[in-house]
Amino acid sequence: MWSQACAPLVEALRDCARCQRAAFYTPGHKGGQGISLLHQTVFGDDIFALDLPELPELDDLFAPESVILEAQQLAAEAFGAERTWFLVNGSTCGVEAALLATCGPGDKVIVPRNAHQSVVSGLILSGAMPVWIAPMHDPEWQLALGLNVNMMASTLSQNPDAKAVVVVSPTYEGVCSDIEALAAVVHEYGIPLIVDAAHGPHFGFHSELPPSALSSGADIVIHSAHKVLAAFTQAALLHVQGERCDRNRLNQALRMTQSSSPSYLLLGSLDAARHQMATQGLALMEQTLSLANSARYRLQDSPLPVLDVSAGGIFQQDLTRLTVDVSAIGTTGFAADAWLHERGVTAELPTLHQLTFIISLGNSEQDIDQLIYGLKQLPTRTAAVKSQSYFSMPVVGMSPREAFFAHTSDCAADEAVGRFSADTVCIYPPGIPNLMPGELITADILNNLKMAQRAGAHLSGLMDPTLQTLRVL
Ligand SMILES: Cc1ncc(COP(=O)(O)O)c(C=O)c1O
Repeated sequence: MWSQACAPLVEALRDCARCQRAAFYTPGHKGGQGISLLHQTVFGDDIFALDLPELPELDDLFAPESVILEAQQLAAEAFGAERTWFLVNGSTCGVEAALLATCGPGDKVIVPRNAHQSVVSGLILSGAMPVWIAPMHDPEWQLALGLNVNMMASTLSQNPDAKAVVVVSPTYEGVCSDIEALAAVVHEYGIPLIVDAAHGPHFGFHSELPPSALSSGADIVIHSAHKVLAAFTQAALLHVQGERCDRNRLNQALRMTQSSSPSYLLLGSLDAARHQMATQGLALMEQTLSLANSARYRLQDSPLPVLDVSAGGIFQQDLTRLTVDVSAIGTTGFAADAWLHERGVTAELPTLHQLTFIISLGNSEQDIDQLIYGLKQLPTRTAAVKSQSYFSMPVVGMSPREAFFAHTSDCAADEAVGRFSADTVCIYPPGIPNLMPGELITADILNNLKMAQRAGAHLSGLMDPTLQTLRVL
């Protein structure tokens, strides 16, 4: 039996990288022998030796029997799941596979309005019909918070035939729903609770962080290990416990939503990130929380309010996320982000009013000094920042899947009001769809998109990036 101090996949990868072989397999660079000088200068040598395919010693992600199986079992133990799958296509493929595993064409699934675009992709792939539920809303911060348990109970009582429920917890800003209470309500209907915890893989490693979704009774939990842990970008985890999810169907869905040539750099980094959290997680989270707390403390005497949802006592907050309201000094999050970026401080998420910073195990005291210095120097502007209307509940004419495959045409944006969108359009980040296939385009939604674009937001999913035209059904 392996202990958490081991890293079976990392060790196998290291041993394979050391072997000299006449390689007649992929990738074409053959351990780096075939790379250009440019490639070598920028990437270094070592990474190529580890970029290996499914050699016999390295197991098979889609039918694991040895080192991947062992690494996944260690991850399940460390994160508190019954079974864990390593993902090489981000939480995106995990969310899509979770929907494919739990819902079929025409099945109802309860989905929060602040779901990530991967949920819409999962709805298109599965053909499931979303029943939208509104997260609670903070009017002052104009932010989606978590889900209200009573509202979930009433949505379920009106849709007792729903096949699954999706919850986003934590949100991008670190706001967490009461997963234990939600799981209790959802389980009364015998259906699985899927928690998109892309931003919360560190929970459970320190008592001052919110409880993990798995310890709170969720059935399927998806973690972007790359967002806050030390895994490579795209590396993610999908965890399952209990019997409400068909694991064979989930396995098949994960084969459909991922590459058949998964990168061992990503897989190995998941094993290494699990090893790091299992052996040093408490100390690393202690250090991260202390950096985040010191940043909050040092902003107390600044005119910039810092998000704190603890007051209402309904939602818990991941204090390693720092959300600052820059509209208080008359500027937008986009302008502040550009100003800070030029001075060497870069946020994760700018919005019209705010900036959200991820503080993780990779940050140092010096980073925090730079952040606080930058925030305190932010130029004050006098222009009032327009308020952004909060996203409304989608009015839909058909399922996202029907809309995706429907006949479409281009239409002048202003004339598209009153028509149904053909595309998933998001302000990115955070990647929460402002429009999805089959959703009624309203003047409010269009104005929001225009205002965000003018303020400097990046819009994704538009066929016409200038927003002069929209694709409609
Ligand atoms: C809430 C949420 N879910 C899922 C995802 C997708 O994660 P990934 O980038 O790992 O595919 C994101 C990405 O930002 C997200 O914010």
